Amino acid sequence: MQVLADFPWENGQEWIDELRRQAVGHQILAEPDIVDHAGIEAAVVWRPSIDFFKPLTNLRALIVPGAGVDQLMQSGTSLPDVPIVRLADPVMATRMAEYVLAMVLDHHRQLGRYRDQQAGAIWKRHFHSDPQDIRVGILGMGVMGAAAARHLRAIGYAVTGWSRSTKVMPDIDVAAGEAALMPLIAASDILVCLLPLTDATRGILNAKTFDAMPEGALLINAARGAHLVVPDLVAALDRGKLSAAVLDVFEDEPLSPESPLWEHPNVTITPHIASLSNPVTGVRQIVRALDRIEAGERPDHIVDRHAGY
Ligand code: NAP
Ligand code: GLV
Repeated sequence: MQVLADFPWENGQEWIDELRRQAVGHQILAEPDIVDHAGIEAAVVWRPSIDFFKPLTNLRALIVPGAGVDQLMQSGTSLPDVPIVRLADPVMATRMAEYVLAMVLDHHRQLGRYRDQQAGAIWKRHFHSDPQDIRVGILGMGVMGAAAARHLRAIGYAVTGWSRSTKVMPDIDVAAGEAALMPLIAASDILVCLLPLTDATRGILNAKTFDAMPEGALLINAARGAHLVVPDLVAALDRGKLSAAVLDVFEDEPLSPESPLWEHPNVTITPHIASLSNPVTGVRQIVRALDRIEAGERPDHIVDRHAGY
């Protein structure tokens, strides 16, 4: 099958090389070297340009080389009516779980405070509670959220999740549906957002959310920047309602050097690295999807266009 590969990332060539190595029997093509666009049957694409699909008149599937699909679904490009497949990579899920765990532990064990003390040669101990007394709420219990929940639970945190559909997980309560959201938020000393960005979740981290959270709570957003209303967060931090926020994702990336978030003493910023797509395991999933499409079978992890993820 002829496959158009478009990776607009620093390591895009690494992905193309890996795809050519693993996708035996498929022809991997990349712009500007494509002469026969009508021969392309599948496209691996992260964020298409407005005219990206126009010459691709014989597509059978789109494959997104990442977990989130909002950058494709909300790109303003008219999408062809073919299945859209995304990555659901356990390696990415473990990376995300490690990130969330690192940030929860950093906050819980007050490591920032000790880094500040070290700068002033201050020897002072501070009390910290046990993990079972810290309630972590996870918004989104899919591939990423469930992995984060299991890692946190394994070292004793009291974890509750929130999803659209009900789920049963050992030692982890999962609340489902809109009515369950505010009670979960009100009972989360640490709130972690791992939702997909859809019409239903855009702006979900807002003043109402922060008002409902316990005094001094921590927010971690590693999903998408547009889940968060930044001025509402800054106001909640400034009045001490939230003690801190960890932000890996921003509505405009890279985050502008002018953003007040950089300077905020209670904000930790990372440059969208919570869980980078992994070329080897990601390509393995892409090739599995290509093989199934070519064989006329239904690939795994098809996006529900109506739900938007
Ligand atoms: P996923 O497997 O599709 O899981 C999404 C979860 O969110 C599911 O549990 C889903 O509920 C729930 N959900 C969706 N809409 C909801 C709503 N309106 N109300 C309640 N729950 C809702 O996605 P994933 O692979 O875990 O990835 C999640 C997101 O993480 C991605 O979309 C992406 O934005 C972000 N991400 C960020 C990074 C990073 O490096 N920062 C890396 C990877 C992914 P159901 O289970 O009932 O469907
Ligand atoms: C990264 O943010 C992804 O969605 O894979």
